[in-house]
Amino acid sequence: MNKLQAHLVERIWMDGPISIARFMAEAMGHPEWGYYISRDPLGRTGDFITAPEVSQMFGELIGLWCANRWQALGAPNPFNFVELGPGRGTLMADALRAAAAMPGFTRASKIHLVETSPILRGAQQRALANIKVQWHGHIADLPPGPSIAVANEFFDTLPIRQFQRKDDGWHERMVAICGEQLRLQLDPAVIPSTPLPKAVQSAPRNAIFEVSPARAAAMSELSQHLLEHGGAGLIIDYGHEHSAPGDTLQAMRAHEYVDPLAHPGQADLTAHVDFQALAEATSGAVNHGPVGQGAFLEQLGITTRAEILQRRATTTQREAINAALHRLTGQDQMGELFKVMAIGSPGQSPPPGFEEI
Ligand SMILES: C[S@@+](CC[C@H](N)C(=O)[O-])C[C@H]1O[C@@H](n2cnc3c(N)ncnc32)[C@H](O)[C@@H]1O
Repeated sequence: MNKLQAHLVERIWMDGPISIARFMAEAMGHPEWGYYISRDPLGRTGDFITAPEVSQMFGELIGLWCANRWQALGAPNPFNFVELGPGRGTLMADALRAAAAMPGFTRASKIHLVETSPILRGAQQRALANIKVQWHGHIADLPPGPSIAVANEFFDTLPIRQFQRKDDGWHERMVAICGEQLRLQLDPAVIPSTPLPKAVQSAPRNAIFEVSPARAAAMSELSQHLLEHGGAGLIIDYGHEHSAPGDTLQAMRAHEYVDPLAHPGQADLTAHVDFQALAEATSGAVNHGPVGQGAFLEQLGITTRAEILQRRATTTQREAINAALHRLTGQDQMGELFKVMAIGSPGQSPPPGFEEI
C-alpha cells in the first residue's frame, strides 16, 4: 500500500466514506504525495502525452488564434497572456514563437501561468527561459487587465462527483474501504433530482451521472475575469457536447488504463468534460463551439503548416509530421473526442476555427 493510500484508508476509517471529488483532490493534489505534486507525468516516459507534446503545430496554431483575438480586442498593451495548467510549458513556448509574427504582440504580452505543480513549474521555467513569467495557484489570483487565456487538458483534471440512479432515486457514489482496499459504495441518502439536466432525469436504473462543481467554479471565475476586463478564452479537452449519463472516470499509468482507486497519487485521474455544463458556467460571456479539435485545427490551417514544415524535412521527419497531423486531427484519434470551445467578452468579431462546415 502506498503512503497516500494508507492515509486515505485511515481517514475513511475514522470519518467515513468520502466523495469521488475529495478522493480525486487528494490523489492529484495532496501536498506531499499528490500525483501532480510529486512528478512530471507527461511524455513517453510518463503516463500520457498531450497535443502540444505531439507536435509544435498545435501550440503554433493556438498562438496564431491568440494573436487574432488580441487584434479583435484592439491590441491592448499590456495584456495578460494566460495558460491554465501549462504542463511542460511547450504550448506557451510554441504559441509565443508563432504569435511573434504579429507586430506588437510579444511586447504587449505579460505571461501568467496558473499551475499548482512545483515540478511542472520548473519545467515551464526551463521551456520559457528568458521570458518573464508570473505563476499563480488560482485563477482568482490573476491580475486585472485584458486577458487571453488557453486551457488544454486542464478541466478534465478537476475533480468530479458521481451519482447513480436506483429505484428510489439518485445516490452519490462514495469512496469507502473494504479491509485495506478502497472501493466504491453508494451513499444511502437520495439526492434531489431537480438540479439534474432534463436529459439525465429520465435515465434508466443504474445510470451514472457526473457533475463537477470545481470545473464550474473555474469556468465561472475565468469568464467573470474576461467579462470584467475584456478578453478571450480557448478551452480544449476531451469530452461530450451535451450533458448525458455515463461513467467517464479514468486512470492512466504508463500509457495504460488502470483501476481509478488502485494507485492514488501514482496514476493520472481524469474524467470527460461535460461542455454543456461548462457553457452554463460562463456567467454571460459569449460562447462558441464546442467543435471537434480536428475541424478546429483544419480551419486554422494545420494541413498547410504541416506542408511547410515538410519542405525542409528528411523522409523520417516527414513521416513524423504526417503521423502527428493524423494524431491531432483524425476522427479515430484526437480529432473528434477532443473538443474546442471559445469564450469572450461581448463585442468581438467571431473567433477563427468555429465556422459551421
Ligand atoms: C493533463 S496536464 C496538461 C498539461 C498541458 N496543458 C498540456 O497540454 O501538455 C494538466 C495540467 O494542469 C495542472 N493542474 C492540475 N490541477 C490543477 C489545479 N487545480 N490548478 C492549476 N493547475 C492544475 C497540472 O499540473 C498540469 O500542468
